[in-house]
Amino acid sequence: MQQLLALIEQKKQEYAQLPLFNFMQDKSINARQRLAWAPCAAHFIMNFGELNKYFLRVEPTNDPIQALINKHTYEDDHHWLWFLEDLKNLELDKSLKFSDALKFLWSEETKNARWLNYQLYRYTSNATPIQKIVIIEVLEATGNIMFSNAAEVGKEIKAITQKPCRYFADFHLNVETGHITGTSGIEQYLQEIQLSEQSRQEAFELVENLFTFFTQFTNELLVYAQTHQIEQELKAA
Ligand SMILES: [Fe+2]
Repeated sequence: MQQLLALIEQKKQEYAQLPLFNFMQDKSINARQRLAWAPCAAHFIMNFGELNKYFLRVEPTNDPIQALINKHTYEDDHHWLWFLEDLKNLELDKSLKFSDALKFLWSEETKNARWLNYQLYRYTSNATPIQKIVIIEVLEATGNIMFSNAAEVGKEIKAITQKPCRYFADFHLNVETGHITGTSGIEQYLQEIQLSEQSRQEAFELVENLFTFFTQFTNELLVYAQTHQIEQELKAA
């Protein structure tokens, strides 16, 4: 599995170069504007808990790898609650008619967020525990890049409003460690797993495809943030 983990690391470094992250680091742009993609990510973020609960987790299990996965899913299944909190804190919590909210969540401009979910459901529903670990490592790699950038913006906003974020924050980054969590020495354990040639090929393809879907999603977030002006300045506390 060593080569596979190296591929994920390489794709993670490429992912970190996407223009959304330059935008999020650009201090000449209003800090809230740099997180203004949040509504566009809602479908993905809200579904992420259930991806963990209903697709990655299988209980009970006798498989030691599935047991590691189960443990991990309990960390990752409730972060959407922090997202809802931050939408309020950041005043990105605009009132909409219910039908308009539904239209937005299923609109063209948010389609890559949904597509990413559907692909993750598709891949996880037929996955072996090893394939699930590969999927989790990709989720953690992309999450780590996203939240290391978002936490910095969250800090800038906190300095102005004194309102701490929890989703766009170190609080979140600390549990998105970049790797499957909850078990010490897991990296060594994963590195030593031997894969057949066929499983290795399939896993390489899985990693390539997932990074493609994450890239499309991330680029969609940038377009959204660049085309939706935030309404007003937050008041300093
Ligand atoms: Fe998370």
